[in-house]
Amino acid sequence: MNNITTPAIKVIKADTSKLKDVDFNNLAFGANFTDHMFECDFKDGEWQTPTIKPYGNLVMSPAAKVLHYGQAVFEGMKAYKDDNGDVHLFRPQQNIERINKSSKRMAIPEFPEEIMMEALKQLVALDKDWVQPGRGNSLYIRPFVISTQVGVSASPSNAYKFMIIMAPVNAYYTGDVRVVIAEEYSRSADGGVGAAKAAGNYGAQFYPTNLAKEQGFDQVIWTDSNEHKYLEEAGTMNVFFRINDTLITAPTSDRILDGVTRKSVLKLAERAGINTEVRKLTVTELVDAAKAGELKEIFGSGTAAVISPVSAFSYKDVVYDIDKQDDSYATKFKNDLMDIQYNVSEDPFSWRV
Ligand code: COI
Repeated sequence: MNNITTPAIKVIKADTSKLKDVDFNNLAFGANFTDHMFECDFKDGEWQTPTIKPYGNLVMSPAAKVLHYGQAVFEGMKAYKDDNGDVHLFRPQQNIERINKSSKRMAIPEFPEEIMMEALKQLVALDKDWVQPGRGNSLYIRPFVISTQVGVSASPSNAYKFMIIMAPVNAYYTGDVRVVIAEEYSRSADGGVGAAKAAGNYGAQFYPTNLAKEQGFDQVIWTDSNEHKYLEEAGTMNVFFRINDTLITAPTSDRILDGVTRKSVLKLAERAGINTEVRKLTVTELVDAAKAGELKEIFGSGTAAVISPVSAFSYKDVVYDIDKQDDSYATKFKNDLMDIQYNVSEDPFSWRV
């Protein structure tokens, strides 16, 4: 990684490291954080001094607006260590642009792109010993913005905190997932915030996901809020369907997140000569394809889970099992992505930074 220093970022290093206290073989996802974090406050109409400092708790008023109105957005990205010990980010510019898009939708001021990129590079370089080598190991990076103005009037805050924290992680899901197709609850609505990585989009999924878990499933495949007719996302991921040899995923919209892994899979499929269709797929088409033996695969795509194969789906209380394919697209894309991320293969699209 290119390690340019920008005088604009103030750096306060931690006196001691917590590294030796971490059991890297038993990591719960996103539960252990590295020695440093990035913080920048917005006040008086501008972003203040960007600072890298020791990871630590925040002190905030119980009246901070984020606690009442959920004016908060976040990103998920990863850094990977290759066999030479070099650390790489994957398409960071995409996350930088997307958090600002999310911020705009949530009436949060945008953060300067070049400072965010520099902060990511400096922070990862400083805590590079926290990135474990080995396929599946990575450093999950969580940039986020919260509204900090004190006061419970329901209006946009005039103060914010932009932060980046980082956690070493292994795989997000350990096996295939079983999903329920949503018939009642929705993740997002037309004109809503589904396309933004807004904190509340995720919290709102917990209840319907718990109901799915009570029935023995792991996740929900979200359908459109109007008719529950079209397949949109899976859990916290974008979702792909392979019918015969065609790969289908929903078009992005104001209901669907423009996933970085999603768009990378589409590129890799195009490079491999796989027929792709970015179009609305109905639940009826999916069920018909499953009944006809034409549904070969379903998989989710996202930064945390990378590619997550679905082994069964349930719709109207009927469970449809999906057999493993010898020529699995999910396996192929996961390998292709990881080869690029871990610097095992060439980087035809210049995704490594
Ligand atoms: C990601 O893949 O980065 C996500 O958004 C999942 C996260 C909510 C754990």
